[in-house]
Amino acid sequence: AGLLSATAALSGTVAACGTPVDTAGRVDFTRPLPIPPLMDAETDGAGRKVFRITAQAGSAELLPGTRTDTFGYNGDVLGPTLRARRGDEVSVVVTNRLDVPTSVHWHGMHLPAVADGGPHQPIAPGAEWRPNWYVDQPAATLWYHPHPHGETERQVYRGLAGMFILDDDEADRLPLPRDYGVDDIPLVVQDKRFDDSGALDESGRAEAGLLGDTVLVNGVSGPYLDVSTRLVRLRLLNGSTARTYLFGFTDGRRFAVVGSDGGLFAAPHHTDRIMLSPAERAELVVEMTPGERVVMRSFPPDPDGERFGDSGGEQDTLDIVELRAADALDESPELPDRLVDVPAPDPAVAVTTRLFELQGKRINGQRMDMGRIDEVVLVDSVEIWEIHNDHGQYHNFHVHDVQFRVLDVDGEPPPPELAGWKDTVFMPRHGRKRLLLRFADYADPAMPYMYHCHLLRHEDEGMMGQFVVVAPGQEPELSGHGDHD
Ligand code: C2O
Ligand code: CU
Repeated sequence: AGLLSATAALSGTVAACGTPVDTAGRVDFTRPLPIPPLMDAETDGAGRKVFRITAQAGSAELLPGTRTDTFGYNGDVLGPTLRARRGDEVSVVVTNRLDVPTSVHWHGMHLPAVADGGPHQPIAPGAEWRPNWYVDQPAATLWYHPHPHGETERQVYRGLAGMFILDDDEADRLPLPRDYGVDDIPLVVQDKRFDDSGALDESGRAEAGLLGDTVLVNGVSGPYLDVSTRLVRLRLLNGSTARTYLFGFTDGRRFAVVGSDGGLFAAPHHTDRIMLSPAERAELVVEMTPGERVVMRSFPPDPDGERFGDSGGEQDTLDIVELRAADALDESPELPDRLVDVPAPDPAVAVTTRLFELQGKRINGQRMDMGRIDEVVLVDSVEIWEIHNDHGQYHNFHVHDVQFRVLDVDGEPPPPELAGWKDTVFMPRHGRKRLLLRFADYADPAMPYMYHCHLLRHEDEGMMGQFVVVAPGQEPELSGHGDHD
């Protein structure tokens, strides 16, 4: 009955807005995929790359023929793609033109806690915030999004999110597709629900948070991508507030996964499915033949359907984007067998193991408190973080500042898609993972980083904790927290 009523609701909603629908989750692809503009950075007198982004309210045609009130960066919905290289010093001028406080977090970035953009760096309406940092991490597909205390789900849902691509020399030497918007395509995947007037429906009360019945890619429903090359690289971001996807193609074709959250893999991983929970990324390389069309779809979880659905009403099959190959495709270089150097994780160098138990929107029984430091780690040390979800609800786990490695999943070595650099991992019901993390470079006893569930309703409701990184001999001491809310 849950599935039937979800289907009926979907058809009703979408028909009212004019998008033809065959059946649940299947859409007609009627609009060209928009590509978020690459932002040109200015270089300031100190040689820094300066980006300017403004959080603002607007309205956008998320569904064809309907305007929906939204939030965006430098535009109506989503934001420009920022791009920097390892070795760059980056400075961002963030302006808040919303009428509510916000913040901007650089998800996946290794940087000082004061520049992190979490709940301790709020930007009041009308105010400006200018973080800067050195980029010193491998080429990767990162992203940015708001992180204001207790309000993250709503602000992301309304459209605040953008990609932040990092480059480095090692990745540049590889013959991977790299022509942004041509054969190197960002895909920001988000599910939304609309009410009869076409407004975003923020009333969802599912356990996971806001779950939609309509998938937007780069801010539009029903997108198609015209492909002009034999190989196309898709930088896939699950930018959804709650939904976990199992991506594949309707014809069952295999593709190469060449990277995860924090960088490229040592070697391509060939598969026909890739699962991403909220905030996770994957870089795929897909081979096309001239003239063909194929749909990327999110499939139901298998084998038993219990790994990530909520018990009621969550729609399992959702079409994402149609790839349309030109009748003549430009040749692409062969995908290499080896990609970049990814060192084997060595748990023997860890100085501490910490346990994080996820239960009922709490971590280790605690609800987020901006005035409490939960963990203190020593700068440049390596630790094992053991994440347990021994309960009947799925979550995921994200750590700020670091890219970590997965040591094991339920006691087994990680599957290939989890064997590279990660900053967020899915935590299925009754699942356990051990992570290896190195807290390099930035000690600040007064400013914490966050770790949390990236199902944003859970985060907002307190499924988050704070850690500080200290130098030897430093005592953690939060200063000035809380006087901004
Ligand atoms: Cu993407 Cu603490 O967040
Ligand atoms: Cu959660």
